[in-house]
Amino acid sequence: MVSSANPATTSPMWKGCNICGYKIQCRIKMICKHYCMSQQHTLSFSGMFFLITPFLKTFIMDKMNDLKALLRHCVQELYSTEEQIIEAMPAMIAKAENPSLKQALEQHFRVTEKQRERIDQVRQMVGASEESVTNYTGILSNLFGAGAKAKGMEGLIDEGQKIMAENLSAEVMDAAIIGGNQKIEHYEIAAYGTARTYAQQLGMTDVAQLLQQTLEEEKRADDILTGLAVASVNPQAEMGNMSSTTSNVTSATSNSMS
Ligand SMILES: [Fe+2]
Repeated sequence: MVSSANPATTSPMWKGCNICGYKIQCRIKMICKHYCMSQQHTLSFSGMFFLITPFLKTFIMDKMNDLKALLRHCVQELYSTEEQIIEAMPAMIAKAENPSLKQALEQHFRVTEKQRERIDQVRQMVGASEESVTNYTGILSNLFGAGAKAKGMEGLIDEGQKIMAENLSAEVMDAAIIGGNQKIEHYEIAAYGTARTYAQQLGMTDVAQLLQQTLEEEKRADDILTGLAVASVNPQAEMGNMSSTTSNVTSATSNSMS
């Protein structure tokens, strides 16, 4: 007769506390003692880490108690956003084939460098300089988040890099580059718009004006990309598909004639 018991859960290596509810299963032998209702139970190392995280957060991290603190966080995120874009754009520019698209990306690259300077200026104005924002790395970044690193932008850039690594025709690649860039622009439009509104609410007129300036540049860049996509890049990508269909038909015809 075959036993129905799951060896994974019955194995003595799988320990968990059934009384306090932390049924953490862990193969790691780094077991610490956890006392619950005067009975001694064992709790896995990862479970213990999970338990102490809220206390570490309370004692190590500053609380964001007001809108100004939230604005500082947003500004720091925007700085990270611009830095990530500046790092990623040269590869996109190199990959673009359409001359008008290449030119538009090169122009926006230069604008983005100015935007990084501008957001750095805003950082100083709101007191979100690098020293005042905790940037955690390694295991702490998993616990608390990687400081003010713009994870959303990191994801969008990663997505763009993946599509650029695909085997696409030049025309379709150009269309994909526009699509990827527009996702980035829309992220920035949302982020700058939010930060601008916080600054307005806080009566920080100078900060709001600087953020508004970048917001308008991002909207313009988005409009230029839409114009390029509609006028030439997308139709060329569509024709690429039609011409490959035509060549397939021609090839099929010639194959059937031979
Ligand atoms: Fe930007």
